[in-house]
Amino acid sequence: MNSDPLKSIKVGICGFGTVGGGTLSLIQTNGEEIARRLGRDITVSRIASRSLNVSEFATSGIHVGTDPFDVVNDPDVDIVVETLGGFEPAFEVVRQALANGKHVVTANKALIAERGNALFAVAKEKGVTLSFESSVAGGIPIIKALREGLAANKINWLAGIINGTGNFILTEMAEKQRQFDDVLRQAQELGYAEADPTFDVEGIDAAHKLTIMASIAFGIPLQFEKTYTEGISHIQPEDINYAQELGYRIKHLGIARISDKGIEMRVHPTLISRKRLLANVDGVGNAVLVNGNAVGSTLYSGPGAGAGATASAVVADIIDIGRHLVAGIAAPIVPALGYQRPHQDLSVMNIEDIESEYYLRITAKDVLGVMAKISRILQDYAISIEAIIQKEADSDSVPIVILTHSAVERQLNKAIAAIEELDDVVAAVTRIRVENFSD
Ligand code: HSE
Repeated sequence: MNSDPLKSIKVGICGFGTVGGGTLSLIQTNGEEIARRLGRDITVSRIASRSLNVSEFATSGIHVGTDPFDVVNDPDVDIVVETLGGFEPAFEVVRQALANGKHVVTANKALIAERGNALFAVAKEKGVTLSFESSVAGGIPIIKALREGLAANKINWLAGIINGTGNFILTEMAEKQRQFDDVLRQAQELGYAEADPTFDVEGIDAAHKLTIMASIAFGIPLQFEKTYTEGISHIQPEDINYAQELGYRIKHLGIARISDKGIEMRVHPTLISRKRLLANVDGVGNAVLVNGNAVGSTLYSGPGAGAGATASAVVADIIDIGRHLVAGIAAPIVPALGYQRPHQDLSVMNIEDIESEYYLRITAKDVLGVMAKISRILQDYAISIEAIIQKEADSDSVPIVILTHSAVERQLNKAIAAIEELDDVVAAVTRIRVENFSD
């Protein structure tokens, strides 16, 4: 362990894309202020990347190579930063670093959400830290807030806009009537999107982040495979417009809730009243609303993607580990997922067992009696209607927009199937959940 007060803390970076590059740049730009905070310099001594121009680093004093295992096996490196992304070789790089007794900072939410249980076990056995603040909500210190700032609370629920790319797309579609594909391309150019942007638009990236937050909030193992995931690629401009007419905005939310029925973990497009702060978080912005039984609701917001925001969280983790080193403490004081004795008996609910309000858009023939048939079906399944709007007929079909009161999703799905069976209904029913976040 590097507890020599005169030695700088040595960092090795594996992967030098948007986040890795941003991390080096931030350490260099704010190095003096960070050293004042920490009482020690932080030096990037090694970088591994397959796509670097080595000559650019010739006079930097940084050893640059292509093999991340050279970083992990360098005895001088105290902290390994993993910004490779994906599973291979990232899993083995992180596992090997931990096994070598090195602390690791990762921005890799897929790795933590899907293989974190195994990696945290190695970190615990070796008495080293595996930090991951930057893996959720970019620059917002939400891991620290949930794990430390709110540690006195029982968390009831949390809900967040946790994918910057998706929020950027929905905002541009709503405000500038832009096309989905065009905005996605811009998000890629701006460095917001994942290497595979379907992770952003199909909700997988958000599900990774929600899995991590739910684990810390409720003290449960990471269970990505049980997180319900629905993307935004099927959202039509007309749904955004109808939602606006009804006083709502459509956001792609990750929601985790605990009740006596179990734990909900779900990612899907959601109508939120435009009076809620969460509905007004736009562009690449992320925000997480957390409800604790002592504090009530607290909101955390900020940039959710991009080099500077993500590096801010990576470097904060490096400083945190550095503070342990300066104090001569090897093993982390705070458990990685916040609990020394996690709950083993809390089960994750099936999506069909949740209760929610719903927005339905039904495309029907413009004929007498169709509205009555739809109302009858909803009544048969005990679903009560809060608002109903019949829009102008377009040639021979008419959009009918319905907001329901709270209903069990299984019942709603049965009602939708019955509505789609009607001869007068000419297209699949669009269903979007509605959330009010009353405490
Ligand atoms: N692709 C991610 C996003 C990057 O858009 O939020 C930050 O995790």
